[in-house]
Amino acid sequence: TGLITYDPGFNNTGSCKSAITFMDGENGVLRYRGIPVEQLAEKSTFVETAYLLINGRLPEQKELTRFSVLLNDHSMVHEDMRTFFENFPRGAHPMGILSAMVNALRFFYPQLEGLSETEELDIIVTRLISKVRTMAAMSYKISLGHKVVYPKPDLCYCANFLNMMFDSPVKPYNLDPDFIRALNVLWILHGDHEQNCSTSAVRLVGSARVNLYASISAGISALWGRLHGGANQAVIRMMEEIHAAGGDVKPFVARARDKNDNFRLMGFGHSVYKTYDPRAKIIKKMADTVQAKLDKSDPLLDIARELEEVALKDPYFIDHNLYPNVDFYSGIVMRAMGIPTEMFTVMFAIGRLPGWIAQWKECFDSPRWKLSRPRQIYIGNNVRDYTPIEART
Ligand code: CMC
Repeated sequence: TGLITYDPGFNNTGSCKSAITFMDGENGVLRYRGIPVEQLAEKSTFVETAYLLINGRLPEQKELTRFSVLLNDHSMVHEDMRTFFENFPRGAHPMGILSAMVNALRFFYPQLEGLSETEELDIIVTRLISKVRTMAAMSYKISLGHKVVYPKPDLCYCANFLNMMFDSPVKPYNLDPDFIRALNVLWILHGDHEQNCSTSAVRLVGSARVNLYASISAGISALWGRLHGGANQAVIRMMEEIHAAGGDVKPFVARARDKNDNFRLMGFGHSVYKTYDPRAKIIKKMADTVQAKLDKSDPLLDIARELEEVALKDPYFIDHNLYPNVDFYSGIVMRAMGIPTEMFTVMFAIGRLPGWIAQWKECFDSPRWKLSRPRQIYIGNNVRDYTPIEART
């Protein structure tokens, strides 16, 4: 095997040099372009953070205005794409639909004539960020059999999403500033996370020099998995199961540490963080704020709190450095906003989009472009002769 290093899952391999996101898993540190996520969650908006991730610095006012105008200009989705949504079988998972639709965007919005590569990329980027949000809300409305709500130019990115999801001609949606802020924070915190599974998929696929839409579509597929972004949906399903079983969390913690049971506590553990995920800390606080807006408190929040308390005192969880991750409380926040559980991973994807784009762009702009091509340790048969079919036993 010569110089090939065995590193399953590439957990110890630096696959690229990147200036986008800094993570310190031992101390629970996360920074985008050098800025701590805590500061961005407190002071920034999702649109501004998207700009920061993609362009490497915070925008000046005129740049932010231009970016917002572009996002508005590109927020509509080609009417013919609606037939796609309408013809997916009922019950098709929204992540599969989103991945297919993002790939299809390439054909509805082909190469732009007469623009430089940079100008064209600017438009493709804003198209993606804007249209993915519209498509997500559109697929939800169509799944209900409801009339699609179009984006409004006077609403900000997050308010527009909530309005497209929940407004209806018979029941106008009341935009709540706390929910708009919570959504900004949620998406800021999902913005990027260095070389995680979906981002690596975007980079790997993109390294073959395929277009941005196809690369992002690969990222969406990877994110769908329940060990990755799909965990936010799995967390709520798990908490519903605990609730249905009477609310006692202890048997579930016991199952998670039982090596003969492949049950895992969803929303716990992380490949890089060996301490409390800094994003989960912020989202946990936010869960209390959004819950306070509801007439009736969510029993799943109590279950989450108890589960955390019991697990964090459990020797198995202590020994394995298993702490709540970003997905542990995010579902509680989204439920409070009225987002249906099967849309949770789509929400993650919308938040992660600027990160994927920034990573793809960093790869694309690199003067030392490298086609990703990992090797393997071969463990199959040694050389042997072909046997004619009559001689095979
Ligand atoms: N519940 C019970 N045991 C666990 C868990 C868990 N949630 N997570 C890890 N372990 C155990 C695992 O069984 C193994 O034990 P042992 O060494 O005794 O065999 C040990 O911890 C290491 O597990 P691993 O899978 O090799 O470690 P990893 O660091 O690669 O795992 C993970 C990371 C996220 C896949 C894992 O913690 C997990 O499956 N968590 C649940 C799913 C989840 O919440 N995913 C969201 C991750 S954060 C958002 C994102 O990045 O998408």
